[in-house]
Amino acid sequence: MESLGLFILVILIFFQRTAAPAPDEITWTYTGLVGQSEWSEHFPDCGGTSQSPVDVITTQTKYDPSLIPVTPLGYSQHGNKPFTLYNNGHTAFIELPEWMGLGGLPWLFTAVQMHLHWGSGGPSHGGSEHTINGLSADAELHVVHYNSELYPNMSAAMTQRDGLAVLGILIVTGEETNPAYNNILNYLSRIRHADQKILIPAFDVQSLLPKDLSRYYRYNGSLTTPPCHQSVTWTLFHERVQISKEQLLKMETILYSSKADELDRMLLQDNYRATQPLNHRVIFTSFSAESGKELSSGEVTAIVIGVMCGCVGLAVIVRFIVKTIRFFKLLHLETVVVNSSTSSWDVLPSNRPAPMPRIKEPEKAKEKKQDMALSSTSEAEKKEEPSPSPQTEP
Ligand SMILES: *[C@@H]1O[C@H](CO)[C@@H](O)[C@H](O)[C@H]1NC(C)=O
Ligand SMILES: *[C@@H]1O[C@H](CO)[C@@H](O)[C@H](O)[C@H]1NC(C)=O
Repeated sequence: MESLGLFILVILIFFQRTAAPAPDEITWTYTGLVGQSEWSEHFPDCGGTSQSPVDVITTQTKYDPSLIPVTPLGYSQHGNKPFTLYNNGHTAFIELPEWMGLGGLPWLFTAVQMHLHWGSGGPSHGGSEHTINGLSADAELHVVHYNSELYPNMSAAMTQRDGLAVLGILIVTGEETNPAYNNILNYLSRIRHADQKILIPAFDVQSLLPKDLSRYYRYNGSLTTPPCHQSVTWTLFHERVQISKEQLLKMETILYSSKADELDRMLLQDNYRATQPLNHRVIFTSFSAESGKELSSGEVTAIVIGVMCGCVGLAVIVRFIVKTIRFFKLLHLETVVVNSSTSSWDVLPSNRPAPMPRIKEPEKAKEKKQDMALSSTSEAEKKEEPSPSPQTEP
């Protein structure tokens, strides 16, 4: 139990966010005066019970065989009309043409925009909004759609339970450059300040998504920024996409959350919301659990193995101490003849009592009685022996 507590503490410290001051002009921010914990005072939905993002605990997800692959519609037919890339002080987003949509859901959804969330500390220092088993990715792409079968536009749909569908793509850092992401990253230097927008060449939006669109997590949640409406059917892909360290660095260091005419320049960093309580919700998976696949990251494995070793070690020590104490108590109560070796004495040779001389014939009766005492204590020990590997929550 102590190891489990320590494990949680280590995780908490590991994911503690670094605070950055917030500019006054922008009504809400991630840290500062109207930071995440204050959002609900100004935007009531942010204090709701079905908020996003969430931590996906893979052992607590539920396989739903009816979840078919999501199908991007027209993502690759971008046409000749340029996209608009916009720095709104919270993120960089691209408005999407209305012929792009999403299938594979109970209704047809129309694409609206896509945007990114990132951190500030480079690879393996957080940045994604959703986490898997407590672990962040380095960044996250969101492609936002509204239910165009039931609602006339985004603003009408965003307040409705079944109004929005958002694709979540976890982004990690690796060796290779991801050319698809350069379609966005190469232009960030031209929208460095909040409120700036430019036209960029249209590109294949599907190339930003992972290849496997059939394996995903599905749950009911919210917008991850104010007004946090609980109107989103979330699809978080199991497969993550990879960008290079240089690409991540661009994302993290080029943009400002402050406007061009503001004297105090504020870097636009750590624009991700903390994970929210799942409450009554269930996260469904479109794929059946393959044991430990989600836990395959080196770090998680190392932590889990470390905790296991710690628990086993602790159990061994506790068992040893209990046994030793019990023996000393017995020794105190009556003189016990130790004529058979026990593990306790073996590991504590300096405390081993001097062997008693072999008992002679006349004392046979007494020896018998003591033998019985010994055997009954070892019997009791066997029963009370703690299991060598105590149950731990992975
Ligand atoms: C969205 O649709 C509603 C309802 O038809 C309408 O009142 C509103 O003006 C529309 N908003 C936009 C931005 O088009
Ligand atoms: C989301 O909520 C709707 C309406 O309450 C429900 O029918 C649906 O099963 C939920 N979906 C998930 C993935 O929990």
